[in-house]
Formats: sequence, C-alpha cells, structure tokens
Amino acid sequence: MIELDHPRSPDALPATEPGRPAAQRWRTDRVLLGCDYNPEQWPREVWEQDVRLMREVGVGLVAVNVFGWAEVQPGPQRYDFARLDEVVELLHDHGIGINLGTGTASPPPWLTTAYPQILPVAEDGTTRWPGGRQAWCPSSPVYREHSLALVEEVARRYGHHPALRLWHVNNELGCHNGLCYCDVSAEAFRGWLRERYVGIEDLNAAWGTSFWSQRYGAFEEILPPRLTLSTPNPSQVLDYRRFSSEELLAQHLAESEVIRRHSGIPITTNMMVTAHQRDVDYWSWTPHVDVVANDHYLDHRLEDPATELAFCADLTRGLAHGRPWLLMEHSTSAVNWQPVNVAKAPGELLRTSVSHLARGADALCFFQWRASVQGAEKYHSAMVPHAGTDSSTWREVQELGSLLADLPELAGTTVRSQVALVFSYENQWAADAPNRPSELVTHLDQVLGAYAALRAVGVGVDVVEPGADLSGYQLVVVPQLYLVRDADAAALDRFVSGGGHALVTYWSGIVDEDDRVRAGGYPGAFRDLLGVVVDEVHPLAAGQSLALTEGGTAARWTERVRLTGAEAYLHLEEGPLRGGAAVTVHERGAGRAWYAAADLDEATLRSLLGEVVRGAGVEPEPGAGPTVEVVRRHPADGRSGPTFLFAINHGDESAHVPARGTEVRSGDHVDGQLEVPAGAVRIVRIPAQEES
Ligand code: GAL
Repeated sequence: MIELDHPRSPDALPATEPGRPAAQRWRTDRVLLGCDYNPEQWPREVWEQDVRLMREVGVGLVAVNVFGWAEVQPGPQRYDFARLDEVVELLHDHGIGINLGTGTASPPPWLTTAYPQILPVAEDGTTRWPGGRQAWCPSSPVYREHSLALVEEVARRYGHHPALRLWHVNNELGCHNGLCYCDVSAEAFRGWLRERYVGIEDLNAAWGTSFWSQRYGAFEEILPPRLTLSTPNPSQVLDYRRFSSEELLAQHLAESEVIRRHSGIPITTNMMVTAHQRDVDYWSWTPHVDVVANDHYLDHRLEDPATELAFCADLTRGLAHGRPWLLMEHSTSAVNWQPVNVAKAPGELLRTSVSHLARGADALCFFQWRASVQGAEKYHSAMVPHAGTDSSTWREVQELGSLLADLPELAGTTVRSQVALVFSYENQWAADAPNRPSELVTHLDQVLGAYAALRAVGVGVDVVEPGADLSGYQLVVVPQLYLVRDADAAALDRFVSGGGHALVTYWSGIVDEDDRVRAGGYPGAFRDLLGVVVDEVHPLAAGQSLALTEGGTAARWTERVRLTGAEAYLHLEEGPLRGGAAVTVHERGAGRAWYAAADLDEATLRSLLGEVVRGAGVEPEPGAGPTVEVVRRHPADGRSGPTFLFAINHGDESAHVPARGTEVRSGDHVDGQLEVPAGAVRIVRIPAQEES
C-alpha cells in the first residue's frame, strides 16, 4: 500500500464557506466536464492513456470509488487502498479534480453473506439477492454500521487530498432499493409512525381505518404495505413512501456526518431527477447537500424525451433554489436499461448537454469514461466507446469539451423566469395511487403536458414546490395538484388575490395531506380561488374524445362544472355534459385564476397557455417554440458580467432567433438575427450593456 502524504491542515482546504446555507457551499470558476471512472475494470497501461485523453478533451472532475467497496475492503477489518491511491495520484498528477465516492452503494459479497439480514425484501416478501447492485435495506442498522465504517476509512485517508473537489455520497440513493418491506423496515416504520402521530387513535383517524375493518389497536400491529389481496390503504402507502424517502436521506446524513469529521470539502449525492424516479422526495433533501447534483438519462419510453429532459433540468435548478447545479451523470449515447436503447442522433449529444447547461448546470459529467467490456452495463455508451477514439462519439465529446472551454464566464450564472410551475413528489405519490377515477391519466402526463405547452409558447419556467415564495412570478401553473396542504392552497390564493395569475389543471385540490377528500365539491381546496364547484368528474374511455365549441377536443377527462364566480372560457360541444365548461376563468382580487377542467388536446392546451401567458404579461423568449429552445443565463444577483443566450434547434429546419452579441464558437458578431441551422446549437455572449 502507498502511504499518502497530504496536508492535514484545514487551512490547506478549498473554502467551503461554512456560514452559508447548505446547497450554496460549492462553487467552480469554470463549467466542468466530468465523468465516472472505473479504472478497476482496466489494466494499468490503459489508465495512462485514459488520463492523457481526459486532459486532451478537458475533463476536470472525475468520480471514482463509486462502486469500490469490494475492492477497498476485501474483508472485515481489512482495507486495501493500493489501487485507489494510485488512481487518485495519477489523476492529481494530471491536474484532474476528484469527485470521491464513499463507496457504500453496493455491499460486497462477504458482508451480505455474513449478514443476510441486510438484504432488501420486496412487497411480496421475496428477498432481493446480491449479484446485481445496491442490495441493502435502507433501515438496516447492520448496513449502516458497516457502511459508515467504510466512509470513516475513506474520509480519513483522502479527506484532505489536494485533488479532492467533491464528496459523492453513496450512489443514487434509492435506485433499486427505495422501498423495502422486511421486518427491520417494519419496525423502523412503526418507530417513524410513533413520532408522527400522537397515539394510535390519531393514526387511525389519519389513515381512515374505520374503512374495511382496518382499525389498529396498537402500533405493534402495523406492517409496511406488503402485497395485499385488494388495494392497500392509500394513506398507509403514502406514509410508507414518506418514511422510505426519509430513511434514504438518513443514510446520506449519516455518511455526511462522518465525512465532515475528516474533511471540509463540499458534499453531495447524485439525485435521480427523472420521470421514472418516484421513490424519493427531493424537496426535503436539498438543504442537506452542499450542491445539488443530478443524474439524467433520456427516456425513450416517453413520447417526447427532450421535453422531459428540459423539465428535469428546470426541476433540478428548482431543487437548487435557482443556484447552479451539477449534472453528475448523463450518457453520450444509448443507455442499457430501456426496452430499446436508442442511440443519440448526430449532434444530439451536444443538444442534450447544452439543454442542461442552459438551465443552470455548472458541470456536465457522463456515466462513464470508458465503455465496459464486461458486466451488465457493457452496452451502455461512454465517452470512450468500444470503438475507441476513432468514433463519432469521441468527436462529439471533443466538440463539447472545446465548447465548454469557450465559456469561461458562464459558471455561477443563473436563469430567471417569470413563470413558476408547481411540482410535488408526495402529490405524485397520492395522485397516481390505484383506484382513482381514471388510470388513463397520470400525474406526469399532466405535468409534462403543461410544461411542453409553456415551452411551445416560448416561456421559461422555474419549478417550485407547493408553498414556495411566489412573489417574484407573474404566473403560476399548477398541474394536477391533487394533494395540497391548507397552507399551500392559501398561499396560492394570496398570490392570485394580490395580482398574480394562475392556471390550475383538473383533479387538483382534492385531498389533504392524509389523502382525505375535501368534501363539499371538487376542486376542494381551490373552489373559492377558481370560482367553480364540480359535482362529479366524468373521465372518458380510452380513444374517446369530445369536441369543444370553440374548436379542439377533450379526451380522458371532463367534469360537471358549476360556475360560482368564474366564467366559462371553453365549452364542451358534445357528450353528456355538453354546454358545460371545459375551461373557466375567474377574476379573483387583483389577479386571475384559470381552471382547465378537461384534458385538452395539445394544440388547444398550447393556445390556452398562450392566452394565459399574454394575460399575465409574461414575455415569451423571441424565437423560442416547440422545436427551438431559447434560454438565457444571467449574472447572479449582485454580480455583473455578460448574459449567455442558448439556442438549441431540435427541428429539421433552420431557425432564426433575435439576438445581439458574439456567437461563442464561431466568434461571429450577431447583429439582430441569429441563424440556428437544423439540429445545431448556438450560444451568444451578450455584453452587460447590451442586455440592460
Ligand atoms: C445510473 C448509475 C450509474 C450507471 C448509470 C447507467 O443509475 O448511477 O452507475 O448505472 O445509471 O445509466
């Protein structure tokens, strides 16, 4: 083993600005290109080539030891850091910063053999065995103890290493093992419930256990929502999801606490802000990271993966409270875990990376550096593909590297929006629960539908949580906020009464935080705000659609709307509710509240959003549209400097975007009109005096 000789004095560490709120401690003076690096899969001579190529392309941040546990701790009380030491030194010698994994993501076989109680158990009681990854129960004290012992060793050894830039806690906490139903989890859940409720009767009331003979006499009788014959109690499931998300956060906090004893370097964990991650409520996590980091992969199971990417990037910035964030993982091309792993088209690597960049990312990292030749991920793309550097992927990576080198002033700049879109994980959990009025309607469809319509009308969006401070916005879009707390509903009402505009979409305001229906007519908490009462919802059968009087159609969902202050804006032309409202508008105090009571076709939703946006006085970004993204990054508050305009053309035809400044790649002066050829990305640097 190599002994490392590193400065131990905290004075030698990069400043972490301890007095500042969390999620603000990390800063970079240039946008970083980075990657996950798994050198243990390669012989030593490949490493030399790797670091040379990393330098060549401008890689500045490398994640190592993410899945290192079995190697650095080959047995109980035995640690062997020889290879990791070498890798760390090699990267350091080449001036490459390290994003150091604590290594706890996947317990090694010796540990799960000795302590099989660590293994997670699925809803149906079957064990999830080792042999893949992340086979640990989030509530397991045995896993916790052993993982923290590893963190202690790693943090002590590398905590002051001069190459260390960031701590990478665990990996995608909750990926695969977000919900565990074992006996240990059951006991932990009961403990959590005892804290949450005053006593068992309080829990019985919250969960509505008078239904179906579910009344509990004592906490000891409660189980996690294991596989049942019929639909389980939805309030119990909701609490179990809250509990499970907190158990994962507890692992992050425990690892962070150990690190902080040995190191002043900023700490993060890579989140999964993507359409398919539903097990973690990240709003409660972000106060506990020094910088928000996200992993995002294009999801080709969705109709419009590029829109989902943009939404997730805006949500990540929302989680970071507007501050720059890191894209810790994305792919150069195909992934390996979708039914069909679609490769990126020529130019798509740049378009997708820049879409994150435009929305506030201060680092663009890839999983992974070199494509594996063995293991379950051997057909996952990488910066260095199986074909090597004589490949289109490598050339696009080079292009991205040189683009980032041309943007030295971009780091730390931020995005400003006049429109907020409300998104809540616990709402998604509740809204998508079984036995709802229509399974044709999913929460994500509503969110992405509203987001896509805003994007099509050229409006940038901040994604916020319910109850967020709305004072800086002119318009708030609330797609299907089914579960809403009283205080959050009141905050939206105050925003509108005070002069703001809002658009709420159907099946909102329905239940309180326990998933208890707000009786008296839908949309419950928003009846007064919207000036309507709905007696009954009328979902439509698959394939059915109804014409609207003003043109367009409604499918999937309609409601029997009674106007109690609002006016009908669009009407149903046919069906049992013909003549009734599909969209309403209510002048409320000094503001205006719109309600989409039906599921509108894409064009109608888009034109409605156009009207809503105009009425709110929001200015769309000139040149932006359904296939052309135009996003600006401005100097952070209180700072001066240029603004950057990003134009990304996802379409097949050349586009024109009004702009003045210098196109950063070509150095061309842009004097009014920026041409963005089909599939191209253009970035204009706008000097401070031009922008103001
Ligand atoms: C992430 C994970 C990486 C890699 C990647 C593949 O979920 O953090 O380790 O597996 O997916 O897309």
